[in-house]
Amino acid sequence: MSDTSSHPLDDPRTDPFGVAATAAADIARITGVERHDIALTLGSGWGKAADLIGETTASFPATEVTGFSAPALAGHVGTLRSVKTPKGKNVLVIGARTHYYEGHGVRRVVHSVRTAAASGARTMVLTNGAGGIKAQWNPGQPVLISDHINLTGDSPLEGATFIDLTDLYSTRLRDIARRVDPTLDEGVYCQFRGPQYETPAEVRMAKTIGGHIVGMSTALEAIAARQAGMEILGFSLITNMAAGIQTTPLSHQEVIDAGREAEPVISSLLARVIGEL
Ligand code: HPA
Repeated sequence: MSDTSSHPLDDPRTDPFGVAATAAADIARITGVERHDIALTLGSGWGKAADLIGETTASFPATEVTGFSAPALAGHVGTLRSVKTPKGKNVLVIGARTHYYEGHGVRRVVHSVRTAAASGARTMVLTNGAGGIKAQWNPGQPVLISDHINLTGDSPLEGATFIDLTDLYSTRLRDIARRVDPTLDEGVYCQFRGPQYETPAEVRMAKTIGGHIVGMSTALEAIAARQAGMEILGFSLITNMAAGIQTTPLSHQEVIDAGREAEPVISSLLARVIGEL
């Protein structure tokens, strides 16, 4: 379902940071948690991680929070959770991603990230399911995002907002992740607009310009997280080899199935990494 009625972020006169502050106040009221330390967005395949991070102290539909849209996609859970880790950190788990391809504009895409920042989170963990370009990768394999190429032609930044994106996907946090799993490889994530999968020619282009992972999320969110001063960790689950690298047609079902199969392993990896943050 997508709500076509008036949405606070659709009016260009609205301050998106004001909406995020209201959303953060909603979350504090609903959860009873004044400040969250870490935010985690769960993409395809990563959903079980929330159960393993710690004790869920609140779980509620994202639509109860100002500015959140209902999820467009089956397999994406429109739930927010507050989870307390064994070390006492409060994690805001965002199971409600608004994708750029939904066409509601980039403000709605990054609203969850801005809300997380307004809730106090200094660390943003972004996860997704994506296509792999590196020949040595296999479907079902998690990889770290080392950098991105934003191919959407859009930005969450408005006006002359010049933001440095050096070390956007924190070297420090990637090192922590590799201490948990030294076999983790990493690559450059290319965000395409979607929702169609890429053509083989687009995948060849992505490879030529230095990309290793193709997907439809994350880059715009990472930019907004950096703007908010957060430190970012990104993970992709390679659900399939990208178009033309795998010779069989891509399907959403294949992506869902790969996510489901990998879920126990990657969720436990993610929970262990979060435990170290
Ligand atoms: N391309 C874009 N997005 C994706 C893919 C892909 O191959 N697999 C899962 N999400």
